[in-house]
Amino acid sequence: MSTTPIFRAERLTLHFDAGRTRALDGIDLEVAEGEFVATVGASGCGKSSLLNLIGALDAPTAGERYFRGQPYSVMLDLADFRRRHVGFVFQSFHLIPTLGVLDNVLVPTIGTPGRSAVHRARALELLERLGLADRLQHFPATLSGGERQRAAIARALINKPDLLLADEPTGSLDSANAAQVLDLISDIRRERGLTVVMVTHDAGVSAHADRLVPMRDGKVAAP
Ligand SMILES: Nc1ncnc2c1ncn2[C@@H]1O[C@H](COP(=O)(O)OP(=O)(O)O)[C@@H](O)[C@H]1O
Ligand SMILES: [Mg+2]
Repeated sequence: MSTTPIFRAERLTLHFDAGRTRALDGIDLEVAEGEFVATVGASGCGKSSLLNLIGALDAPTAGERYFRGQPYSVMLDLADFRRRHVGFVFQSFHLIPTLGVLDNVLVPTIGTPGRSAVHRARALELLERLGLADRLQHFPATLSGGERQRAAIARALINKPDLLLADEPTGSLDSANAAQVLDLISDIRRERGLTVVMVTHDAGVSAHADRLVPMRDGKVAAP
C-alpha cells in the first residue's frame, strides 16, 4: 500500500475581508487513503471552509493542498479534478427540484466520457444499493429527508470518486434517518475503498470514523 496520503494540507489559510475574518489559519492535515475522518467543532470554526478547499470549490489565501502528492496549484483544470476524484454531500441535499431521482444522480455524468447507458446502469445499481430502486422517477419534494440524502449520496458516488466530502450530511435528518445515512456512508466507504472527510455534530459518527479532527478558530485543535 502506498504511504502517500490521499490529501495533505500545508499551512492552509483562508482569509476574508482583507484578513479580518480568518476562516482557516494555518491548517496542517494529512488524510490517508481509505481513511474516514470526522471534522468537529463549533459553528464558524472553519469546517465548511476546509471541506471546500479540499474539494477545490474554493482557493486558499495561502498554503498548499496536495492530492496524492500533486499540488493543487499545478493542476490545470480543477473542475476536472473535482469531477474525477471528489463527491460532495451537503446538509440541505442540493438536489435539482425539477428532476426525478435518477436524473439527479446522472447530473455529474454530463460532459464526462462514457456511454449514457453505462452511466444509467451505474446509477440504477447505486440507487438499488441505497434503497431507492422504487423512487427513480420521484421528484425531490415528494421524498423524505432520508430519501433525499440517499439520492444525494448516489449522485456523489456516480463518477466513482476517491474522496467523499460530506458537510453535516445528517444535520437535516431525524435520528433514525441520520443513523441510516451514517451507516450507509460507512458501509459504502468500506465496500468501495473510499476516503471520507465528514463535517458533523452527530454523536453517532465516532462509531464509524477512524479519527476525529477537532477544529477551533480556523485551526486544528489539540484532540
Ligand atoms: N464567503 C465568505 N465571506 C466572508 N466570511 C466567510 C465566508 N465563508 C465563511 N466565512 C466566515 O469564515 C468563518 C468560518 O466559516 P465556516 O467555514 O462556514 O465555518 P463552519 O462550517 O465551521 O461553521 C466564519 O466566521 C464565517 O462567517
Ligand atoms: Mg459549516
